[in-house]
Amino acid sequence: MTHPSDFPAWKALEQDYANTQNIHMRQWFEEDPSRAERYWIEVGGIRVDYSKNRINDNILNNLVALAKQAKLPERMKQMFHGDKINQTENRAVLHVALRNRTNSPIEVDGEDVMPKVNAVLRKMGDFSHAVRSGEWLGYTNQVITDVVNIGIGGSDLGPLMMCTALKSFGHPRLKMHFVSNVDGSQLRDVLEKVHPETTLFIIASKTFTTQETITNANTARQWFLQEGSEADIAKHFVAVSTNKKAVAEFGIDTEHMFEFWDWVGGRYSLWSAIGLPIMLYLGEENFIEMLNGAHLMDNHFINAPLEHNLPALLGLIGIWYINFYGGGSHVIAPYDQHLHRLPKFIQQLDMESNGKQVQMDGSHVATETGPIIWGETGINGQHAFFQLLHQGTHVTPIDLIASLAKRSNLPGHHEILLSNVFAQAEAFMRGKTPEEAHAELQAQGLPEQEIEALVPHKTFSGNRPTNMILLDKINPRNMGSLIAMYEHKVFVQGVIWGVNSFDQWGVELGKQLAKTILAELNGTIDPQKHDASTSRLIRLYRQANCA
Ligand code: F6P
Repeated sequence: MTHPSDFPAWKALEQDYANTQNIHMRQWFEEDPSRAERYWIEVGGIRVDYSKNRINDNILNNLVALAKQAKLPERMKQMFHGDKINQTENRAVLHVALRNRTNSPIEVDGEDVMPKVNAVLRKMGDFSHAVRSGEWLGYTNQVITDVVNIGIGGSDLGPLMMCTALKSFGHPRLKMHFVSNVDGSQLRDVLEKVHPETTLFIIASKTFTTQETITNANTARQWFLQEGSEADIAKHFVAVSTNKKAVAEFGIDTEHMFEFWDWVGGRYSLWSAIGLPIMLYLGEENFIEMLNGAHLMDNHFINAPLEHNLPALLGLIGIWYINFYGGGSHVIAPYDQHLHRLPKFIQQLDMESNGKQVQMDGSHVATETGPIIWGETGINGQHAFFQLLHQGTHVTPIDLIASLAKRSNLPGHHEILLSNVFAQAEAFMRGKTPEEAHAELQAQGLPEQEIEALVPHKTFSGNRPTNMILLDKINPRNMGSLIAMYEHKVFVQGVIWGVNSFDQWGVELGKQLAKTILAELNGTIDPQKHDASTSRLIRLYRQANCA
């Protein structure tokens, strides 16, 4: 398989880097008054200003050429067509089918998947209506007031992120809870707040074998059975999974199971039945709006030329920093309290997808791959880690995300928020020259000696890249578009590196080892051969807990 660095465009980009690495973006803005207008793209309710990046037309052309040489357009078509592009698991990758609102046939193994997709959506819709309207009653004939989603990773982060982001659209009676951690304190905290008669548990697991989820689900069931009976379980436990057999074995009637399929990756699954908490909370119409928003982005992605293709541009600009500037991390900074779960969601999406070191054919990828994704609400980040972003030694690209529409009617708040996000982007780009710092200190009347000492500390190099991602408003449609945009961005980068973005074998080793260690901690097997450090830790645990 061709290594990315063997593509002719890669060599051209190396040359671009040598030619432009010392150019300041200030210069590009001064030379080209149309830069902000030209490096701007709108898709549905999403507007992105990518002008504050260390790019020019030549670099963009070479990035697009790189995408073409890596056969991005062909790979895109294969994904949308249902080809088995997840080669190590021999699976299609069809999150786009889940939001294929035109209903055009998409085949996997000769079978159109759309009837199945639509049937599950219908079942989710009927169930959601019943719960939300109060028609679905618990075992003492009371309406459901609390929904507890038990799942982890992709079976948790997407629904949690969406329900938090779209809280203002939520059903006023329903309180949503999410339990992912096998540390019993998370489940205990939730169980302290809810009542068996009015609580609905959703056991969400693609495989239905995930230890954390099954342990939490069993504990929740035991808790329920302290008051309800086995027969009452049907009214309070539903499952979301691809594994009917395991759901039945767990004791949930498969009538109350919402199905999805192996061609839906965990971190790409919020559009599937895994989105049941979202539909329960927001209602069917809003869930469909979210799908519509994602579909709009899918259509843009598959149809727009790469030069004007939002996910492709974001992916390629990311490649520019990761592979040519050596910028190994990327910050997600939403300027919106209800988007505070977004960085964590994108972290799994990106890092589990592109945290790979071999290409599709098993050969070692000769370049850097997926970046470390991290972040926090921007305004809080400003008072915590932005110092490093402004004056540290790393070049870290940042996605600044905000809503143009006001988020609350509390006077003054949104203006302050937006003034900060715009100011940060300006500061990251412009910086402050030593001359500017000097003039500022002089204007404050400081003695020259003190000014000289302070200038290096008050200088900002600037030239630090940001993408300004503005949503017209935070609503289900725009959130759907935003998440689909990030999904496709990750795909674009995976294609350039030639890795499989849709498996996650890297999480398996720890899981395997934990099984043996658990048996040792329980004392059900004799101590096994480990390295000295691990053996010591196991002994210590047994001394502390098995006296
Ligand atoms: O261990 C990683 C992982 O497989 C994720 O990819 C997935 O989202 C999560 O675990 C949960 O898996 P499941 O939905 O099968 O419980």
